[in-house]
Amino acid sequence: MAKIRAKISGIHAWVPPYILTNKELESMVETSDEWIVSRTGIHERHILKGEGLGTSDMGAEAVRGLLKKTGTKPEEIELMICATVTPDMLFPATANIISDKVGIKNAFSFDINAACSGLLYSLVTASKFIESGTYKKVIVVGADKMSSITDYTNRETCVLFGDAAGAILLEPTTEEVGIMDSILQTDGSGRVHLHMKAGGSVKPSSHETIDAKEHFIYQEGQPVFKFAVTKMADVAAEIMERNKLSSHDIAYLVPHQANLRIIEATARRMGVEKEQVMINIERYGNTTSGTIPLCLWEWENKLKKGDNIIIAAFGGGFTWGSIWVKWAY
Ligand code: ACO
Repeated sequence: MAKIRAKISGIHAWVPPYILTNKELESMVETSDEWIVSRTGIHERHILKGEGLGTSDMGAEAVRGLLKKTGTKPEEIELMICATVTPDMLFPATANIISDKVGIKNAFSFDINAACSGLLYSLVTASKFIESGTYKKVIVVGADKMSSITDYTNRETCVLFGDAAGAILLEPTTEEVGIMDSILQTDGSGRVHLHMKAGGSVKPSSHETIDAKEHFIYQEGQPVFKFAVTKMADVAAEIMERNKLSSHDIAYLVPHQANLRIIEATARRMGVEKEQVMINIERYGNTTSGTIPLCLWEWENKLKKGDNIIIAAFGGGFTWGSIWVKWAY
């Protein structure tokens, strides 16, 4: 019997309309457009404004668009996974809330927390349910309202992040397309450099934790940068080597968008040209689980069936990984 693979059969994304520019940030913290652009590559980012709106609202917009564009009815979806570090609430899962908002009634759904690698972890997890023949229509959402955990008085983090959501439809195929190979890794000792200090079971929320601003992203930029630049490049090169792919075989590198310098280092290590790299960090910043679907969505019209794509990410945890995808349409 022919091997069943999981193919990406549709992609959609959604970003909130409000744009926070470097200029506006200059009036909020001691920073400059020049510093932000030269150190990160970011010019602006989208921010979700509005009382009572959360990650699920962005995720629901992305899923509604995906269902419409692929002609899929919500009741056909059998599994929905949401990658996020900014869930609407600690429980229930944001995936459950998105399913409810879009009318997905015949599925089970859950969240995956792997920070900026969340989309990769979720795609690989979802693909196993397809490859095993268990399900035929699975949606993976990557959604984060990073503005909800960003301290806009801290110049070291507030310039980096933005809000966005993307949704990917996975279906089975027996053709030589889809998710071909993956490498996923974790090193929990890296948590000391990148985490949120309070609000979990170790340090539940209290007046003290709020006064100490412990419900925001805590990041030591330099150690994270060093790990990210090495691990993302290593894992992208490793998946190419073990599948005997040269830089000429690759149509696109889809890197997680945390810092333009990390993206460029990964591309150099893979030996791919600038035109082969999806980069949109300048307009969105780091949207955590949203970056990869945002790239695929913006480049969708340029992609051709059979194109080899390497997706690579690094994030809090530490978590990192890469996926080799052959584009299916
Ligand atoms: N504006 C102006 N100056 C600033 C700013 C700012 N916004 N932020 C920091 N600085 C200053 C610092 O205070 C420091 O000043 P000092 O030399 O007087 O002490 C100087 O700029 C250099 O700071 P560094 O932290 O060394 O700057 P660096 O070049 O490392 O850039 C950055 C910082 C952009 C955060 C970088 O380290 C980085 O990209 N790290 C990796 C981020 C990442 O990949 N995260 C993982 C994914 S996120 C997730 O999983 C949720």
